[in-house]
Amino acid sequence: KHVSIIGVPMDLGQMRRGVDMGPSAIRYGGLQERLTNLGWTVQDHGDILVDMRENAESSTAGNLKNLSSVVTASELLAQKTDETIADDSFPLVLGGDHSIALGTLAGVAKKQKNLGVIWYDAHGDLNTADTSPSGNIHGMPLAASLGFGDPALTNIGGFSPKIKPENVVIIGARDLDDGERKLIKETGIKVFTMHEIDRLGMTTVMKETIEYLRERTEYVHLSLDLDGLDPTEAPGVGTPVAGGLSYRESHLAMEMLEESGIITSAEFVEVNPILDEKNKTGAAAVALIASLLGEKLL
Ligand code: ARG
Ligand code: MN
Ligand code: MN
Ligand code: MN
Repeated sequence: KHVSIIGVPMDLGQMRRGVDMGPSAIRYGGLQERLTNLGWTVQDHGDILVDMRENAESSTAGNLKNLSSVVTASELLAQKTDETIADDSFPLVLGGDHSIALGTLAGVAKKQKNLGVIWYDAHGDLNTADTSPSGNIHGMPLAASLGFGDPALTNIGGFSPKIKPENVVIIGARDLDDGERKLIKETGIKVFTMHEIDRLGMTTVMKETIEYLRERTEYVHLSLDLDGLDPTEAPGVGTPVAGGLSYRESHLAMEMLEESGIITSAEFVEVNPILDEKNKTGAAAVALIASLLGEKLL
């Protein structure tokens, strides 16, 4: 039972300052001790090198802000997650904005073929340079990992696509752009929007998600954007959307995933301590990670 913590102080995939401090906030919330107490051998690999915004290549290539700096960090992260898996350790990646999923998935999918992905998020992150309303790369990593968009993003790690649409489940969506809706319809990605979650309840949603992925894949990556939670319970995020998942629903989801045993890698992203209230969102991330990795109430 080995877990490797990899921090990615990335804030170049969006415009708000402070999300680069997310890995520190999660570590400061007591992550390592929490996991050690659960019986994990924890190795913290420190942070991936990311250009400071002041030094980043600020040039916008097409509609892709900070492209070259995002790509450089993603390649480093891909190498690190690939090594972690080769070492038989569980990759636990801490963001940073959601653009880091480009690197995480490139590394994980290198050896884990037919990888499944749970995208726990208020957003689809299914934009391309052509459809993005913002040019922010954190709104594009799921599309790029599926092979859609600019080759600079789809080819990270030297191969594309990383994942297939039928192996993806999105949970918590409530802010989708037109191009994202179109891509969902075309590819048939499974999506539990807030509407379905309200109707079915989280228990059923997670049961169906687990069953769906179990039938299709051997490995499942969890990509959890803290803005999937409601902003009242996770205020420290750059793109909050009202009407989100509760802290309890999110815990239930993590506990059910843990019970199922399907999760083989994870990342927790978009924690922005500058926008947070006394590290509430950082603490929520720690608590959810602990549940995912085996912490129980009794
Ligand atoms: N859909 C919007 C965009 O593409 C927001 C994306 C938010 N993504 C995130 N990882 N928080 O700009
Ligand atoms: Mn989001
Ligand atoms: Mn929007
Ligand atoms: Mn996201």
